[in-house]
Amino acid sequence: MHLNLLMGLLPFAHSLNIISSNDDGWAEINIRSLYNSLTSAGHSVVISAPADNQSGAGSLNTPPHKLILPCEFNSCPSGSSAYGHNASQPRFNYVHSHPATSMQYGINEFGPKFFDGEPHLAITGPNVGSNLDVEIFFSGTAGAATYAVKEASIPAIAFSGKSGKHTAWNDHEPLHSRVYAELSTRLTGQLIASGTPYLPPDVWLNVNYPDVSASSCANPDDFHFVLSRMFPAVPLITDDDVETCGSKHLPSERKVVDTSGCYASVSVGMASSKEDANATMQGVVLEKLGSFLTCLPD
Ligand SMILES: *[C@@H]1O[C@H](CO)[C@@H](O)[C@H](O)[C@H]1NC(C)=O
Ligand SMILES: *[C@@H]1O[C@H](CO)[C@@H](O)[C@H](O)[C@H]1NC(C)=O
Ligand SMILES: *[C@@H]1O[C@H](CO)[C@@H](O)[C@H](O)[C@H]1NC(C)=O
Repeated sequence: MHLNLLMGLLPFAHSLNIISSNDDGWAEINIRSLYNSLTSAGHSVVISAPADNQSGAGSLNTPPHKLILPCEFNSCPSGSSAYGHNASQPRFNYVHSHPATSMQYGINEFGPKFFDGEPHLAITGPNVGSNLDVEIFFSGTAGAATYAVKEASIPAIAFSGKSGKHTAWNDHEPLHSRVYAELSTRLTGQLIASGTPYLPPDVWLNVNYPDVSASSCANPDDFHFVLSRMFPAVPLITDDDVETCGSKHLPSERKVVDTSGCYASVSVGMASSKEDANATMQGVVLEKLGSFLTCLPD
């Protein structure tokens, strides 16, 4: 009993049940790197992601169907059933449909086999390629995250990284996959440490990482997170953002990731509209992430 009490206070105290999806497919290496990173941090993670590349599928949601061809990278044989899992790792599930559908199956079908109740958090990505402003409307990474928020009231974070191309799960792990996974685990840990509710109702976070290469931004410690807007503000029309860094106008996420010096953007969105949240909601996230966030250089 004493041991249990102690264990509860040690690093795994903030261990959460997390459902993980993407739009690049269950066998793309980014989602597997993130699985390893979140699992090492003590979380219980279940992957439920499309059988194939579903980039650009947005919020489409249609019933899965039996495969004619193999899953991407030959990760399941042709003729496989509409959804299924890795025979030796039942936490890795594919759904032969869209990203939002795989999030739905993850929450309703696969998660309950491992979780006591609904997942605490939904995480999507890291997407192969950025998801900035209007791209968000077509992004399956955003579609799966906003599905979790809208349909199941599960707080969600979508991660995207500029570097890399589609890579199979069993390839050599690229540097960017490792760096994006570690950064995503750190941001997730910070949000979890801020306590429940992890995010206000209808709110999701859209996070974008800049390029990673051996010569720049190669180490997660090189990065800074900056609160941003998804859509650039229209002067005189857009309401003020939350006041931070001496301004009531947050930088656009594109500006953040394009600033040299390894800046990652964190935007606060409303799942129902996929638009920016207002200053009050941005303020809640600003408070929660606290010193984890920094300002862009002048
Ligand atoms: C994934 O799908 C998108 C949208 O159809 C396409 O642009 C992209 O080239 C595909 N990527 C791969 C590796 O098949
Ligand atoms: C399935 O899991 C096994 C054991 O972890 C692994 O060796 C194999 O590569 C995995 N295959 C896929 C497609 O996930
Ligand atoms: C900000 O957004 C929230 C959530 O939609 C809403 O409840 C609140 O009234 C809004 N606040 C202002 C000042 O518009």
